[in-house]
Amino acid sequence: DGKKILYSGMQATGTLTLGNYLGALKNWVNLTDEYECIYGVMDLHSLTLRQVPAEFRKNARSLYALYVAAGLDPEKNCIYYQSHVSGHAELSWILGCFTYMGELNRMTQFKDKAAKHADNINAGLYTYPVLMAADILLYQADVVPVGVDQKQHLEITRDIAQRFNAIYGDVFTIPEAYIGKAGAKIMSLQEPEKKMSKSDENPNATIRLLDDKDTVIRKFKRAVTDSGSEIVYREDKPGISNLIDIYGCVTGKTREETEKEFDGKGYGDFKLAVGEAVAAELEPLQKRYGELMADKTYLDSMIKMNDEKAAYYSNKTLRKVQKKVGL
Ligand code: ADP
Ligand code: NA
Repeated sequence: DGKKILYSGMQATGTLTLGNYLGALKNWVNLTDEYECIYGVMDLHSLTLRQVPAEFRKNARSLYALYVAAGLDPEKNCIYYQSHVSGHAELSWILGCFTYMGELNRMTQFKDKAAKHADNINAGLYTYPVLMAADILLYQADVVPVGVDQKQHLEITRDIAQRFNAIYGDVFTIPEAYIGKAGAKIMSLQEPEKKMSKSDENPNATIRLLDDKDTVIRKFKRAVTDSGSEIVYREDKPGISNLIDIYGCVTGKTREETEKEFDGKGYGDFKLAVGEAVAAELEPLQKRYGELMADKTYLDSMIKMNDEKAAYYSNKTLRKVQKKVGL
């Protein structure tokens, strides 16, 4: 209906953190009126690391329910499982034949992940950017909200699409990075120089979206701060600054407003207030999540309907590509 198409997704590994929520998911909800939004549960990408099958399947369903619980509407947006749409793998193969090893060799995320998982440097990890290109190009996405760590992958997606178009005519829309209001970057509660990440093994470092109120408050109480006592935002005080940013994200308050509110109070008071504000923000989401996970029939019917929507869109592109290359 003339709206631009927006594509995004998250890997179905582990439980989402407050970073995933405040930096991505919460903002996605605000985009659903302006764009035709397609959000994937990116389970094929998750296979680049070893998964425990039963846990993996549970995580994927949980991610789907979290998308919906956070406010993405499966009747309005397309929210689907990547692995349920065979076009991703099919287009990925074709695009791989239009991608040079030299390009993939330059991907910094591959180098990082290969260093981290030296015992399992598989070809999927290496060709991950090609699958990501297929994800985006299959739906002719105009915009892709990407974190800094994915910028290079969007660049290679554009290069592959342009290369293909130069040979075969206008087949793919060339996607752009979504430049919106800068999403907050949430840092680890234990090592505030590092981003909060769902793969962090220290349980106190991350707030998980399904943490209950007591857990949330306890983790904020234990958050690492410096030896000072004033609630002021300063580059050289990443711990307290991160808490000020988190508080701002959930209350809508600016840094200055927060500093004023806690003028004369100590870290203890502030940490408790942040914990309570975050728990209050998560409460309705968790309630909705519980309802969704309990209603198997509804969730299954939404998944089925959206898989079909995604298959319909993606098949149009796939058929065109196959025809162009002579398949
Ligand atoms: P993780 O590191 O938690 O595994 P991913 O790399 O899978 O996260 O990213 C999923 C989405 O969440 C991306 O859009 C990413 O930009 C966003 N994101 C992840 N961690 C953070 C964070 N700490 N702060 C803000 N956004 C984040
Ligand atoms: Na990650």
